[in-house]
Amino acid sequence: MIPVIEASKTRPLYEQIYQFYKEAILNNQLKRNRRLPSHRVLAKELGVGNNTVIRAYEQLVLEGYVRNEERRGLFVAEIERRLPVKKTPANSVVPRTIAVARKQKGFAPSLHMVDEDNFPIKQWRKCINRALDSMSFQYEEHEGNDGLKEQLIKYLFEHRGVRASPERLIIGSGATSLLFWLAFILKEKYSRIAVEEPGYTRVTAVFSELNFDVKSVSVEQDGLNVNQLVNTKTDLVYLTPSHQYPTGAIMPVNNRIQILNWAARNSVYILEDDFDCEFRHKTNVMPALQALDQRDRVIYIGSFSNSLMPSLRVGYLVLPEGFDMPYQPFTFLTNTVPYLIRRTLALFMEEGFWERHLKKMKILYQKKHTLCIEALSRLPGKFIDFRPTPSGLNILLSIRSLLTETELIQRALDGGIVVAGARQCYQNKNSRKARAEVLFEFGSIPEDKIETIIRRLFDAWFPER
Ligand SMILES: Cc1ncc(COP(=O)(O)O)c(C=O)c1O
Repeated sequence: MIPVIEASKTRPLYEQIYQFYKEAILNNQLKRNRRLPSHRVLAKELGVGNNTVIRAYEQLVLEGYVRNEERRGLFVAEIERRLPVKKTPANSVVPRTIAVARKQKGFAPSLHMVDEDNFPIKQWRKCINRALDSMSFQYEEHEGNDGLKEQLIKYLFEHRGVRASPERLIIGSGATSLLFWLAFILKEKYSRIAVEEPGYTRVTAVFSELNFDVKSVSVEQDGLNVNQLVNTKTDLVYLTPSHQYPTGAIMPVNNRIQILNWAARNSVYILEDDFDCEFRHKTNVMPALQALDQRDRVIYIGSFSNSLMPSLRVGYLVLPEGFDMPYQPFTFLTNTVPYLIRRTLALFMEEGFWERHLKKMKILYQKKHTLCIEALSRLPGKFIDFRPTPSGLNILLSIRSLLTETELIQRALDGGIVVAGARQCYQNKNSRKARAEVLFEFGSIPEDKIETIIRRLFDAWFPER
């Protein structure tokens, strides 16, 4: 077999020869023990220099596609054949993706999206440029000199009442991946975890994957059912007290103290996920559960995803003092945020840009939240129920319709609007609500489009009303 090659500026000739033989061998077009033409013959045939062919052949030998037998030449090596490409089953194709909906309709509010138009890009760019000036190239410089821990410790104390120290503060690529790391650390000693129902199911997925016994505890008007929790035999409990996901409930202080006392008496660790804590509408932000904890039972989890942008992929954990698991040997696994991002973020906070941005976004999201509630209240009839939750960037809608959740989501998508179903937040089918529920995320919707989007949703779901 003689390769077909072409003069190309982007693909060198030796690479084309190498690629040709490699593919032919992998696809079994060239059977094992077949001899390749000598480099002189092939060079002449192709009209290229001997060295070009030699270079391609050397690469094939180096990677084990062919073997070089002294004085005899090059032969195709014995390679296990690849399995054929797995075909994607037709029914796993998502009919219309978020991206398509966005393109077709020009706009689609979606899951966990933040306002892009008000991001202080100029300041961010300034910080990236400064971070580049002090760019670190080495492993050992990865954490020490970026200043992010210092800034986070200050922020957490001032805004959330959370007490942290550099050794107990772990920064990594997002809260979810840190939860995986935490589960990996905790599994050496603990095996049972209680989670909220409905709740953030990725936590269930992570802990189940590591063979924890996951028990769900129901969430009511005020958040988790404390009586149910204290009767659950568990080592750990995962909670979202500031903004229960997905209901938006805020846990009252009495429940917080009850849970802290129970955890202290039973040596239970509380995994407090403070996601979406920054945006409290109308009232002041309540301090974190960790701020109330006097017995070191809370493992605090936070993220920049909603407060800055999810694509940044930065989250953090604050382990309690006296944390009884040997985690230090494994902190290297959390070195997942590039130095440039860490340093940029540290500068962004140091310069006060972060605080200013948060202040601005709090006002803006509160305004958007009010507009959503007003628009929802103006809809005819009582077909969409909702709880005007006082915090966060989403509203849980309960739909009075015979349509299934999947049908509601598809109809919304056909109208260019992305909503998420709440079914995925339930572990037990039996605890799902009889009525379909969907999560409406308003963070990314421009203020002047809120009314139209909500009306469009209503029309998609109730066309004859
Ligand atoms: C309750 C909750 N915690 C954590 C996260 C994820 O945070 P991160 O983007 O930092 O992984 C989410 C994201 O949707 C969430 O809903």
